[in-house]
Amino acid sequence: MAGFERVSGELKCDGLSLPRIAREVGTPFYVYSRALIEENFRRFDRAFAQVPHLVCYAMKANGNLAIVKALALLGAGADVVSGGELRAALECGIPPNRIVFSGVGKTETEILLAADAEILAFNAESEREIEKIDEVAGSLGRTASVALRVNPDIDSGSHPYIATGLKHNKFGIDIARARRIFREAGRFPHVRLTGLQAHIGSQILEPAPLAETARQLASLATELMAGGASLETLDLGGGLGVAETEEKSFSPEAYAAAVLPDLSGLRLKVLTEPGRAIVARAGALVTCVLHVKEGEEKNFVVTDAAMNDLLRPALYQAMHPIEPVVPRGQPFIADIVGPICETGDFFVRDHSIERPDAGDLLAIRNVGAYGFAMSSNYNFRPRAAEVLVENHGYRVVRRRETYEDLVRLERE
Ligand code: LLP
Repeated sequence: MAGFERVSGELKCDGLSLPRIAREVGTPFYVYSRALIEENFRRFDRAFAQVPHLVCYAMKANGNLAIVKALALLGAGADVVSGGELRAALECGIPPNRIVFSGVGKTETEILLAADAEILAFNAESEREIEKIDEVAGSLGRTASVALRVNPDIDSGSHPYIATGLKHNKFGIDIARARRIFREAGRFPHVRLTGLQAHIGSQILEPAPLAETARQLASLATELMAGGASLETLDLGGGLGVAETEEKSFSPEAYAAAVLPDLSGLRLKVLTEPGRAIVARAGALVTCVLHVKEGEEKNFVVTDAAMNDLLRPALYQAMHPIEPVVPRGQPFIADIVGPICETGDFFVRDHSIERPDAGDLLAIRNVGAYGFAMSSNYNFRPRAAEVLVENHGYRVVRRRETYEDLVRLERE
């Protein structure tokens, strides 16, 4: 099986020794299983096989070029949210006609880049934005394809910081206004309104909100097409969550089963924008224990990774399984924390774990999505290395930053 598994007690990535990588690359490092990323993508793709479809990987989850390139080779499209992601997607070989551009505020430069590349669609979130796309496309002598991101006012049940489908969120266009935009499409001579899109949030762990979103999109598409709109795509966004264990997770097959009944008869191409579901479980952050601090009331395992390397616990109270790579001690209860001077710098609290010694390695699991991608240089800490395990070996796909990297853009 691809991914992380214990072999004779030791946690390995696709059978490869993590202590060996640690010796050669240093810690902390992110390690990804290419085989599991590919398997996740193929599984997602297969789940939608009964309709014309395109899986547009949400690059924000993990934009490492090696990962994007591996997905490009499998025929993935991309969901990009910035000029930088657009350029990276193109350089990794994702054809422009497989790229959608999302985001609530695109700059003129970004619109220009994307219109010039003739991407599959801009996911537009306001009339003003469509006007801008129209102007820019016109100046290039082009016609841009635009999908309207609608806001269905659905509670995704996810953390409030990553729930995006409610009326009071900044995202999308309400359905009444979307109808009006389609009626007045003639106002935008350099835009073709080719699709509808919705994305109601991330880390969604139950099918109902996603099924309801598909239902609303399908019903609006049917109505608009009856009124003469020539739609081509229906984009369900991303959002499929990843629970602590695979058994508790919501599978791509269950997701497809929940949304497809409403979409099958439409004869539109179904786009999806999964990020987390493709990469989360395929990545771990390997960190070295600096020491164990036994306090009056609590034990602390202090690691060489910190909140700058993995922000999710501090920002979203996210729970990531943490385990010793080679367990040896007796179980005890401890907080696992980074060295940064903030109480928020923790990975887990009151966690039962085999008591490690200084120098032991811990693996923080399910961090392939929004792990490295959200890391920073806070505290002047160089960002971690990223390693891709493939073909029975590994490759450093982003070297660890150095002090020179940290100060390169600064002037005394
Ligand atoms: N499409 C759009 C328009 C999005 O905004 C997002 C994520 C996705 C697709 C991909 O969603 P996914 O399948 O990965 O759930 N930093 C947060 C997650 C933020 C997600 C933002 N949008 C975290 O660490 O949980």
